[in-house]
Amino acid sequence: MTDHTNDALSQPGLLTPSQSQRLRDLLADLEPGKGSVLTALHRAQHELGWVPRGAISLIAGQLRLTDALIYGPATFYSEFRLTPPPATLVAWCSGPTCRVLGGERIKLILEKTLDCELGQNGPNDDYGLWLGQCNGTCEQAPQVWVNGRVVGKLSLAGSARLAQRIRDGEGAAKIAPPPPGAVEIQPALIRKESP
Ligand code: FES
Repeated sequence: MTDHTNDALSQPGLLTPSQSQRLRDLLADLEPGKGSVLTALHRAQHELGWVPRGAISLIAGQLRLTDALIYGPATFYSEFRLTPPPATLVAWCSGPTCRVLGGERIKLILEKTLDCELGQNGPNDDYGLWLGQCNGTCEQAPQVWVNGRVVGKLSLAGSARLAQRIRDGEGAAKIAPPPPGAVEIQPALIRKESP
């Protein structure tokens, strides 16, 4: 299993010109200063899926702060990721309905079969098991999201089968294809560590 909490700081993580422009637009209404740092980080992560080094510098410039004043909260708060998400990201729902319906046991099965703990990536960084929070789609509980798509009404056996498919390298698009016309609702929050 792999956990990258600090090594991301040495990765380039540069933004493309279009990403930079998009991020500038998203931060344009924020007041300069420390009071806007968390909002800026949330917006950057929501837009990019993680907080690359280039985003740190851009936020610092936009808020007229030093890079260090952005790195501080980015590394302190567990919801911010400083490494890119794996190709297949399983977000386990930590919400109450999913827990009541067997979510904890499902989590154990996922961890065992995927060979990684909640908040970590698998052995080759091909997949990861992260924490998600209820987004209101509880009618599908107990559930996980695979690259943001619901895989719901999971049984224990179904969880093991799902994890095995992921471990065997089956892609997220095959495991959880978008239903025609479906409106996708992302998990409310993904964090790198268990509560
Ligand atoms: S508790 Fe899991 S989706 Fe609501």
